[in-house]
Amino acid sequence: MLDLLRSEIDACDSQVTDALLRRLAAAVRIAAYKQEHNLAFYHPRREAAVMDRIGQLLQETPYAEPIRELYRTVFRLSRRAQLQHVVPHNIVLIGFMGSGKSTVGRALAELSGYDYYDVDRVIEADTGHAVARLFETGGEGYFRELERQAVARLCGASAAIIACGGGCVLDKRNVACLKQQGKLVWLTAEPETLYDRIRGNGERPLLVNKTKQDIAAMLALRQPLYHSAADYVVPTDDKPVGEIVETILNTLIWDSRPPAATAAVLPDCRQ
Ligand code: S3P
Repeated sequence: MLDLLRSEIDACDSQVTDALLRRLAAAVRIAAYKQEHNLAFYHPRREAAVMDRIGQLLQETPYAEPIRELYRTVFRLSRRAQLQHVVPHNIVLIGFMGSGKSTVGRALAELSGYDYYDVDRVIEADTGHAVARLFETGGEGYFRELERQAVARLCGASAAIIACGGGCVLDKRNVACLKQQGKLVWLTAEPETLYDRIRGNGERPLLVNKTKQDIAAMLALRQPLYHSAADYVVPTDDKPVGEIVETILNTLIWDSRPPAATAAVLPDCRQ
């Protein structure tokens, strides 16, 4: 009896695995089609409709919610497979402090199913100390060396969203390493916006007691570095996070089209 039930389970698993693989293959084909035809990558209404349909199929069962949860994972897996197929790069966020790298990075990872790394948090996990404390005890040079080591490690990741610290671009070795497997997206914002976003936050040692003018001056010094490192430039002033995430994904996908399809329609995304 037990053997019979177990073989029933085995047969179900074969079907489920097969169905999942076919589902992923179809999702990847859809992504390629969207890429070719300049269509938006993420379609929340379609996902909601699929979920509704699943809900209908499950309504009489006691497993409706756990299976919906399982589907949320399937959606994430699908998006990850789709993105990896059409954009075989890590997405690396650069930009000044307060440009939204961490917030946008987390949202990008949530949507794309990619793994998320925040360079500052990696350094903190490596050392067991907050960034501010590392500046305090070892000075900026010490922090930059830790940053370089963390970046060198993260460069080898795949299917990753990497949010850099604002000063990552100061070292050319970081930029070269990140470019090996990644596309660098520069999140820009006006000095006023940056100031509003970061004021009152005591975690950034380079900004303690800095005025709006100080920030504008520091930004002006770094701007050429961000500009020369960036593959794409995405303005963030007055933009909701969701819109920035969609802009990044769509731009990268359309820009990664095979050359023949790309030439005619692609706008120049650099500013
Ligand atoms: C720095 C930016 C910070 C952090 C450190 C130095 C910089 O990261 O790495 O305080 O030099 O711009 P965020 O840009 O995430 O604040």
